Amino acid sequence: MSNTETKTESSDSLITTDVETGSNDRTAPSNRTAVAARDLNVYYGDEQAIDDVSMEIPEKRVTALIGPSGCGKSTFLRCINRMNDMIDVCRVEGDVEFGGKNVYDGDVDPVALRRKIGMVFQKPNPFPKSIRDNVAYGLKIQGFDGDVDERVEESLKGAALWDEVKDQLDSSGLELSGGQQQRLCIARAIAPDPEVVLMDEPTSALDPVAASKIEDLIDDLAEQYTVIIVTHNMQQAARISDRTAVFLTGGRLVEYDDTTKIFEDPEEQRVEDYITGKFG
Ligand SMILES: Nc1ncnc2c1ncn2[C@@H]1O[C@H](COP(=O)(O)OP(=O)(O)O)[C@@H](O)[C@H]1O
Ligand SMILES: [Mg+2]
Repeated sequence: MSNTETKTESSDSLITTDVETGSNDRTAPSNRTAVAARDLNVYYGDEQAIDDVSMEIPEKRVTALIGPSGCGKSTFLRCINRMNDMIDVCRVEGDVEFGGKNVYDGDVDPVALRRKIGMVFQKPNPFPKSIRDNVAYGLKIQGFDGDVDERVEESLKGAALWDEVKDQLDSSGLELSGGQQQRLCIARAIAPDPEVVLMDEPTSALDPVAASKIEDLIDDLAEQYTVIIVTHNMQQAARISDRTAVFLTGGRLVEYDDTTKIFEDPEEQRVEDYITGKFG
């Protein structure tokens, strides 16, 4: 795996391999926090969607958010790059720290924040534009003054799509297959060189082969980016993530630990019940 080239910081921790969880590809602990939620509460009108969540998300690792439908996973994800700002009834209390700053401080520009914290959604949503323009979209907004074509190529390579589209950069992004469209959206998200990539169930609209390509890609992305992924697919969380956060009804974070620990020996009975399919 390509990860082996970069995990040089602590070679003596690279002894374990585990076929069931992908997390051991990056066994060296990440000692830097990319994003930290502190006493986060989120409401839609009177309804509470996130209940006093605090968690530290490690840099350049894959962190999975799992839990039953409606437990607040998407809400939590959207807090990180302030996408919830766009929902009128949504109110956020508490802090989300990123780069040593609370993203909810008055002087934070949400547009600049979203360049640093990109997002990929469940349904691939390319713009009705050429493949090139889809990827270059964020660069234009930020007034990027480097070589756009070079950055487009790098981003498409980073999204494992370049070889499939390099001869058709001027054709519409909408002509691609679903899996290719999702990789195009990933290329668009990484083009502005973010630090964090948020993904909300990025494979659930895809067939298994396309989904598997995205899973491989996520593993590669974590060499360079912090990846935070919501998934309802527990096998997927087990395969691709280093850390897993389990949310349960009411927007409570019930357990958050190394993925192997969550799936093999969780502390909470409720987590074990959820993972073994007793509810959810
Ligand atoms: N835009 C919204 N307006 C009002 N309520 C919402 C909105 N989005 C989510 N909710 C509510 O917040 C709770 C958490 O939703 P969500 O974050 O989408 O959960 P999940 O992603 O885990 O399925 C649910 O009760 C949902 O109905
Ligand atoms: Mg959701």
